[in-house]
Amino acid sequence: MTEFDINQIQTELQGKNPRTILNTALTRFDNIAISFSGAEDVVLIDLALQIRKDIQVFSLDTGRLHPETYRFIEQVRKHYHIDIELLTPDREVLDRFVTQKGLFSFYEDGHTECCGIRKVEPLRRKLATLDAWITGQRKDQSLDTRGDIPEVQIDSAFSVADRTLLKFNPLLNWSSAQVWDYIEAYQVPYNPLHAQGFVSIGCEPCTRPVLPNQHERAGRWWWEDAAKKECGLHAGNIKP
Ligand code: ADX
Ligand code: SF4
Repeated sequence: MTEFDINQIQTELQGKNPRTILNTALTRFDNIAISFSGAEDVVLIDLALQIRKDIQVFSLDTGRLHPETYRFIEQVRKHYHIDIELLTPDREVLDRFVTQKGLFSFYEDGHTECCGIRKVEPLRRKLATLDAWITGQRKDQSLDTRGDIPEVQIDSAFSVADRTLLKFNPLLNWSSAQVWDYIEAYQVPYNPLHAQGFVSIGCEPCTRPVLPNQHERAGRWWWEDAAKKECGLHAGNIKP
């Protein structure tokens, strides 16, 4: 696919709703997968299955997700009768890291190293096999880092020399309220942590509930600077 084709798809999809964006992604690309975090991005799976039955879904099993999230991933697998590929970190690298730095080094020297091992490297391995991936990123999750991402983009962080990787963000133009309306209206299963004050959900040690009217990402890596709250999955979002 040339840069011209990609610009054309982007123009077509600008401002569009999740169903339209997913439809383009899933009909134009065969070798494409949904990256499912175990949170409200479950709506991507619900919508995608209305377009195609043979969707590919993966989750990054960092080893540090909440028990509720593991159970929810299992619930989704059974509810939709789909396979969910669980990607785990490289064992030797992880063993060395936790032996040398313990299980909570991110509170002292930041989340980049741990996320690099537990999320980014397994994701890189998976993305090297795909032509495109689908994420649940939304603009309203962070105006600092997600306010101006497009519906479809070349993923420069994960493309490799002989393969340009595309990244679709179908929920981009929906607000959190629209996602929750959909979940309620269509009886989509959801992670029970959402009923306990968690809005954005990541790993257990790095996520906490937010107070009413606090921004959702205030509960992620709360000890770090707001403008840097990306873990490397969406590295291209951080402006230098
Ligand atoms: S993060 O980068 O801060 O962790 P966030 O939780 O906002 O991301 O989720 C945005 C999107 O990133 C999700 O909808 C999903 O597509 C992807 N993502 C985040 N965490 C995971 C995960 N553990 N496994 C798979 N995809 C994930
Ligand atoms: Fe490690 Fe926290 Fe990143 Fe999870 S979110 S990979 S526990 S630093």
